[in-house]
Amino acid sequence: MINKDKISVVFVCLGNICRSPTAHGVFRELVERSGLAHRIEIDSAGTAAYHVGNSPDHRSAAAALQRGYDLSDLRARQAIVADFGHYDYILAMDVQNLENLQSICPTNYAGYLGLFLELADLEEREVPDPYYGGSSGFDHVLDLVEAASEALLKRITQELS
Ligand code: 4NP
Repeated sequence: MINKDKISVVFVCLGNICRSPTAHGVFRELVERSGLAHRIEIDSAGTAAYHVGNSPDHRSAAAALQRGYDLSDLRARQAIVADFGHYDYILAMDVQNLENLQSICPTNYAGYLGLFLELADLEEREVPDPYYGGSSGFDHVLDLVEAASEALLKRITQELS
């Protein structure tokens, strides 16, 4: 494997206000603690445009803050074709969003486009959408995202020279 100087990652859900900003904030904290923040670029986006410019959902932000993750600087944006020219990892939260991304993915994209949870050894393949549910859904998102973030960091660390 050819090792790289820098690796970039974008997490993608539907609205970019619940799941992907949670992954963005959790993975950012893990990367900062590992001392690799200068070598790993992190972003998040949504396949839909409903919430562009908005802060994370207050329920996601509160659940994340309870575990020490500050999402307050994050703002929603929509995923665009140019993301394929920039990011080494494009990680979808569920199959629907992965299919949306696959439908706009250039045929020569050489990075990794897949489900975030498939990088980890978990029972679940998808991070369930917590938007219309109760507060336990937001904690479940955090549990899954924390586990998968550990696996992602392990994988990326091996790719960095
Ligand atoms: P997210 O959650 O994709 O995890 O950000 C959602 C946010 C908003 C909506 C659906 C899911 N919505 O329908 O507005």
